[in-house]
Amino acid sequence: MVQFTLPKNSKVRTGKTWPRPEGKSIRKFLIYRWDPDTGENPRVDTYFIDIAKCGPMVLDALIKIKAEIDPTLTFRRSCREGICGSCAMNIDGINTLACIYGLDEVKGDVKIYPLPHMPVVKDLIPDLTLFYAQHASIMPWLETKTNRPAKEWRQSIEDRKKLDGLYECVMCASCSTSCPSYWWNGDRYLGPATLLHAYRWIIDSRDEATAERLDALEDPFKLYRCHTIMNCAKTCPKGLNPAKAIAEIKKMMVQRMV
Ligand code: SF4
Ligand code: FES
Repeated sequence: MVQFTLPKNSKVRTGKTWPRPEGKSIRKFLIYRWDPDTGENPRVDTYFIDIAKCGPMVLDALIKIKAEIDPTLTFRRSCREGICGSCAMNIDGINTLACIYGLDEVKGDVKIYPLPHMPVVKDLIPDLTLFYAQHASIMPWLETKTNRPAKEWRQSIEDRKKLDGLYECVMCASCSTSCPSYWWNGDRYLGPATLLHAYRWIIDSRDEATAERLDALEDPFKLYRCHTIMNCAKTCPKGLNPAKAIAEIKKMMVQRMV
């Protein structure tokens, strides 16, 4: 019989259950905890909050837990408006932004884990080093060759509209970490978020490096590991569709060959 050996620190144990307060609106939170400095396996701690005394979003609950119950709980957040992308985590099985995900959207216990299939720095904080390096690799800036105009690079209203559904991406990584192709080949497949950004610059009417951008993506892994599974579009907390952007790049690859 085949026996699998789990990697070190991969077994999650039941952690501490914190005291339950009095109140009529108590909700239970099960939160992934891992501190690499202790050398211990990860655990899931249980917290209780009176949501009548808490803001409406999952991030409000995390902030309340950290402020009033357990200051060691570690997570990223900044804007609290769905703009910075830093509070992405897995809530109730969905990769999303904690600051715009309502507690009322979760039925039953609120289960919170870090984004899946990424190395964890601590508790709910994933290591996004590779994710950001992949983003940098697609040259996420306007690349021009002609002389700089006296005032500004102009763009028609129609051409500007082509960027809608792309520029809104906040690089939260919810889509890439929900993609099975990225789970298995994340070191070579660029993933939905980075490819959405690649397309954003490819179709920018002011950009003059379209051929170079497409050349750089002509690779069996970087682009073509997208198998249109569509988890990216389903999970994106900003309502974007990275799979569509990827399909558009693939279409351009074919069009330039004929
Ligand atoms: S496309 Fe959506 S899910 Fe993906 S990084 Fe951008 S905002 Fe996040
Ligand atoms: S805190 Fe900025 S997106 Fe959630």
